[in-house]
Amino acid sequence: MDTKTAQELVNQAIEAREKAYAPYSKFKVGAAILTKNGTVFTGCNIENASYGATICAERAAVCNMIVNGGADPTAIALCYNETEFAVPCGICRQVLSEFSPKGDLIILMAKTDGTYQETTLSALLPSSFKLN
Ligand code: THU
Repeated sequence: MDTKTAQELVNQAIEAREKAYAPYSKFKVGAAILTKNGTVFTGCNIENASYGATICAERAAVCNMIVNGGADPTAIALCYNETEFAVPCGICRQVLSEFSPKGDLIILMAKTDGTYQETTLSALLPSSFKLN
């Protein structure tokens, strides 16, 4: 994808990260999904005292997209710290595959300094589970 659009999406993920509710792990994550019509939906991780009830930033962004009538995600940016390019966890990869059945969703794995690496969902999850 073009550099300007990618950088803007990364910046929105970095901004969303600031809103993370992560009192238990102190590990803040931000995500931003770009849809086909140009709308962006952000998300952050939201933890819970019942740890398993925690929702990741990527899935929070998906929820935000769906409840607001968004569809056809083309790219997602995510970030968590300044040392690693953020990768989505396995559950989030599967959830993203629901909305990118061909796996062509672009994934921008960012650091909090704004640098990023670009990959695709199919590269990270070659065989997603599907119900036929
Ligand atoms: N987390 C995310 O938000 N996304 C991921 O892909 C991996 C993990 C969150 C969940 C939890 O709040 C914290 O990071 C530590 O696991």
